[in-house]
Amino acid sequence: MGAQQVADRFAELYGAGPEGVWAAPGRVNLIGEHTDYNDGFVMPFALPHQAVAAVSRRTDGVLRLHSADIGDSVAELRVDDLAPGGDHDWTAYPAGVVWALREAGHAITGADVHLASTVPTGAGLSSSAALEVVIALALDDLYGLGLRRWQLARLCQRAENVYVGAPTGIMDQTASACCEAGHALFLDTRDLSQRQIPFDLAAGGLRLLVVDTQVKHAHSGGEYGKRRAGCEKGAALLGVDALRDIPYDGLDAALARLGDEEIVPLVRHVVTENERVERTVALLRAGDPRAIGPVLTEGHASLRDDFRISCPELDLVVDTALAGGALGARMTGGGFGGSAIVLAEATDVETLTKAVEEAFAAAGFTAPRVFEAVPSAGARRLA
Ligand code: GLA
Repeated sequence: MGAQQVADRFAELYGAGPEGVWAAPGRVNLIGEHTDYNDGFVMPFALPHQAVAAVSRRTDGVLRLHSADIGDSVAELRVDDLAPGGDHDWTAYPAGVVWALREAGHAITGADVHLASTVPTGAGLSSSAALEVVIALALDDLYGLGLRRWQLARLCQRAENVYVGAPTGIMDQTASACCEAGHALFLDTRDLSQRQIPFDLAAGGLRLLVVDTQVKHAHSGGEYGKRRAGCEKGAALLGVDALRDIPYDGLDAALARLGDEEIVPLVRHVVTENERVERTVALLRAGDPRAIGPVLTEGHASLRDDFRISCPELDLVVDTALAGGALGARMTGGGFGGSAIVLAEATDVETLTKAVEEAFAAAGFTAPRVFEAVPSAGARRLA
């Protein structure tokens, strides 16, 4: 979807062209799942799918929001009235960002917004973070706030945690705001320090497929929050600030000290997952992308058996892909549905796609959406 198209629709809706057009992508997480709210490591990359926003400032305290994906009605809100809680539809993401910016002391006096997104919703590909980040970047530019990308990500996370009420970590917003084309983002969620790791699979004859199972998930629902609370309880029982502070070689000792049987597997997942991120970074830096396959697959087993957030559809993608010769496969994102990723030789992509589609049909599952993921650019101004 081009900037011009979004600007044209803005002009139709609001009677004049926008002051600018911005884009922010969805993401895939390569490895590092449910580690971000434990101060751990993550490694997402940006998808070519993105939210595009045409935006103009207003001075009268009115916020008008329209989405190409929703229909004809323009939502009209007053910035003074924005408050967390209550019934939320898609407008909560952009409105939440305006609320978070104003809470942080930035004088946002209104805006007209038209949004269009190609990021599939409910697919674990961060469609909500894309909406948040595109609005934050647009308002930062238009109002001359001069915020750094990581600061925008933090404000967007606050919008999601407090305004929308989903207790998510910082990964998705940082990925959308900070990723670079051709790279995966190695992010330390404790201090938000980051390194861009070259990730050019095509050059090595490899491909990464995203399989959207079409099983919808929602993070404001209880299971995500329960896992998060379990991890926090684990950290408290072990006397550390966050599970990040349990070193991999101290894991067995830490588990032995934990009396709580429900907490043990959660802690084991987080500590081993941090180690898997570090191993993945090392392998990529050594120029050995094929070798990350088994690390991805180990990550899936840990999410399925220890963290218990997979589902039959995700497991079927992974099992079918591995049986068909994939180098590695895992669920990606928050879990309970959404998408899986499959790392494969370029020459195997067609057969693997067909195998997954056939397995879904045989199991009576809704047909999955399969596409190739290419590490793409993070948020930016288009026009
Ligand atoms: C969702 C959340 C992220 C992260 C992942 C799991 O995508 O928004 O903050 O916790 O789940 O890794």
